[in-house]
Amino acid sequence: MTLSTTESGQNPASTGERPRVLSGMRPTGKLHLGNYMGALYNWVKLQHEYECYFFLADYHALTTDYADTSKIKENRSDVLLDFLAGGLDPKLCTIFAQSAVPAHFELHVLLSNITPLSWLERVPSYKDQQEQLREKDLATYGFLGYPLLQSADILLYKPKYVPVGQDQAAHVEITREIARRFNHIYGAREDQALGSAHSDKEKLAEELSSPASIILPEPDVLLTPSPKLPGLDGRKMSKSYGNTILLSEEEPVLRQKLKGMVTDPARVRRTDPGNPEVCPVFDLHKVFSSEEVKAEASEGCRTAGIGCIQCKGWLADAVVRELVPIQERRRYFEANPDEVASILQAGNARANERANQTLQEVRVAMGVD
Ligand code: TRP
Ligand code: SF4
Repeated sequence: MTLSTTESGQNPASTGERPRVLSGMRPTGKLHLGNYMGALYNWVKLQHEYECYFFLADYHALTTDYADTSKIKENRSDVLLDFLAGGLDPKLCTIFAQSAVPAHFELHVLLSNITPLSWLERVPSYKDQQEQLREKDLATYGFLGYPLLQSADILLYKPKYVPVGQDQAAHVEITREIARRFNHIYGAREDQALGSAHSDKEKLAEELSSPASIILPEPDVLLTPSPKLPGLDGRKMSKSYGNTILLSEEEPVLRQKLKGMVTDPARVRRTDPGNPEVCPVFDLHKVFSSEEVKAEASEGCRTAGIGCIQCKGWLADAVVRELVPIQERRRYFEANPDEVASILQAGNARANERANQTLQEVRVAMGVD
């Protein structure tokens, strides 16, 4: 596969007039079905419609895993393979690693000067995560600054949309607030900023309505439609619960895992009728199975016409069907590490080019160019 990258770092994905999209993922291990349906599946569709930048947020992984960084490199390679296996196409989108684009860290520092501590402290994930990950000491500067690094990630690319799940919406919101504050402080034209008798509010409105004053456009969140995706124990599928099915799961393991999945607890014996609406297995059928299989499983469950083992076998068939092409691509890329490396290199180069442009504008606006 050859990448059509030109001198200017343009690839077919960035030559059109398509609105830009940016999103990232913290590499914390091989992706599971929940990560796939919650993000990657959607990104793969977006790459056909938008100028897309997707990245591995490896420095963000440091904020929670600083005490043990031994897995970060391996996780980064695994997630990159999963990106490609899942269908991100380097001919259609730009794939890069945060750590390879220093502008992220420079913009982070520049923005830190205008970011009130209280804005960071009130981001819901700050206190929630500290509570949930009590075994890690997260009373660090890096962890508090997590959303600001994310804001820098985003603003450098001036995206129109940031596709994320609901859990990340607050981070996009603070990004918007920071952009607004930046534009307010540094984007004002002299004739508006000086000697104006208007109130601050009027002045701000005026400045924001003037295209000349907008250096960092405010991105919109593009909420990923996320179907309910329970893990093997019926709780939300999550690495920390150890209840996942990986995108790269071998078929026999996948079948074995699904066999052990929790079902409608009221269906104890084979002869008891069950209720698919309270069964986590059926939630997965809703995502992966055809209409016919769903209807047959639902009917069979309610009438005790089928057993749970059979029902789970049908589900396994549907999940395997979804994963076959993904795993085929993964094997291909595993066997071609040089190609993977050059995909990342080309993506990093394009990202640097785009990010450095914005960084330069920011430096000029702040008077530190
Ligand atoms: N915080 C995001 C997550 O945990 C990852 C991320 C980092 C991100 N920077 C970003 C997502 C910028 C979107 C845009 O999933
Ligand atoms: Fe769940 Fe299927 Fe068993 Fe019904 S038959 S309880 S839907 S696994």
